[in-house]
Amino acid sequence: MSADSDSTFLRNFALVIGLLVGVTILLLIVVNTFSGGDDAERQALAQERAERNLAPDYAVRLSGEPAPAVASGEAEAEAQGGVTEVRSGEQVTQAVCIACHQGNFQNAPGIGDQDGWGERIGKGWETLTTHVSEGYGNMPAQGGAATEEEIRAAIEYMIEDETGLEIPES
Ligand code: HEC
Repeated sequence: MSADSDSTFLRNFALVIGLLVGVTILLLIVVNTFSGGDDAERQALAQERAERNLAPDYAVRLSGEPAPAVASGEAEAEAQGGVTEVRSGEQVTQAVCIACHQGNFQNAPGIGDQDGWGERIGKGWETLTTHVSEGYGNMPAQGGAATEEEIRAAIEYMIEDETGLEIPES
């Protein structure tokens, strides 16, 4: 190989390298122009999406704090100018109680679970209703999520209707 063709090769080689470096820099500039500048905004969006994806489909309150008033039939009624719409026991159960009373969450007796409820109903209506609205053991107070009337209807549905058991008056 002659010195001449060596230098030709080197020149072409340097040219190609230079071209590649140029293209790389150009691409970096293009990428930066289209995506740079709004990092904070993009991060906030990604964060929001991640939180939404990680959130469960239902909310469970374990801290004992009352349920948000938004879910309350009473609050809704107030917002609608005092027109009270009482939900049925089944509706309340589906909306509120099912989060724990389906699947034995923290030993919550299941809907229609004869054995589970059998040992509790002896407490009577009054005690059971109070326990639900004010909280009992592992169950946080439900008074914010349903009215007294609705809680009573839900107990009737979950226990009496679904197990055939009968709760004594007190
Ligand atoms: C956050 C979970 C959770 C929700 C929501 C919930 N419960 Fe409970 N519930 C429990 C658990 C846990 C127990 C068992 C408590 C214990 O014995 O420690 C229980 C117990 C009960 C008892 C028996 C109380 C007693 O004195 O033995 C009744 C009745 C009851 N729930 C009704 C309801 C009704 C009606 C609703 C809906 C308005 C409801 N629960 C919503 C978790 C829940």
